[in-house]
Amino acid sequence: MLRLLNGRRCIGICFRAFRRTNSDKWMSNRCQSNEYISRFIWENTELTGGQSLTPEIKLRLFTPNCRFWDERPELWPFDDPYWAIYWPGGQALSRYLLDNPSVCRGKSVLDLGSGCGASSIAAKKCGAAHVTANDIDRVAAIATVINCELNAVEPPFCVTDNMISSEPQCFDVILLGDMFYDEALATSLHSWLDLCIKRHGTTVLIGDPGRAQFEEHSIRQLLHQLDQFELPKSVQDENYGLTCSTVWHYQPDL
Ligand SMILES: C[S@@+](CC[C@H](N)C(=O)[O-])C[C@H]1O[C@@H](n2cnc3c(N)ncnc32)[C@H](O)[C@@H]1O
Repeated sequence: MLRLLNGRRCIGICFRAFRRTNSDKWMSNRCQSNEYISRFIWENTELTGGQSLTPEIKLRLFTPNCRFWDERPELWPFDDPYWAIYWPGGQALSRYLLDNPSVCRGKSVLDLGSGCGASSIAAKKCGAAHVTANDIDRVAAIATVINCELNAVEPPFCVTDNMISSEPQCFDVILLGDMFYDEALATSLHSWLDLCIKRHGTTVLIGDPGRAQFEEHSIRQLLHQLDQFELPKSVQDENYGLTCSTVWHYQPDL
């Protein structure tokens, strides 16, 4: 699995080999109990902290000490483990929230594509009134609950439906950490975010380390930079030379 997690400049390449072996896992994932998945996460991840942009947030993630770092991908029993990595876009977004707690304080927040749950944890730590973590991977929801417990914050409300295919609910803030890694997904997100802003005046914040799919997407021209962070050396090395990660505000004239 190591070769799949290395070279994360392009997330699609990172997981492509994995996905080919993964086609029949979806049904069996649905049958596993939460307890089984939770135990699996504990046994196959390691506690991390100091090596991200948010050393104050502890997370259980894949590291070279974990069995599946070197294991054959076909032995992995679930969908692609996006939740086992703290992506650079999410790191910048979470850092920005922690540095600017008023962005979330007292607000209803949606962390869309929540993965390991770090941005939800940051929003909670800043005093958000209500946090929803949405990820279509059920394993991510369970990892998020584990990571919240590690950080002594109440778990968010976890939703595993594909929210971007339905009518937007009312949130004050929507967080998107490293969600513009696939062109089709980026285009669906763009339309749905426009609806959220039109209907509810939602504030939309995006964290991205400058992936090609993001830089070349039409939404990129409509963003205002809020902050930029140099990635820690270890994160740069794991992400094939990406050096910094930026937080953007999407505020179109609609
Ligand atoms: C690259 S990861 C980013 C995770 C986290 N935001 C971070 O920055 O560490 C993308 C996440 O989005 C989730 N995802 C993909 N499509 C989605 C969708 N339509 N709705 C919600 N989550 C989605 C994946 O399962 C994955 O956990």
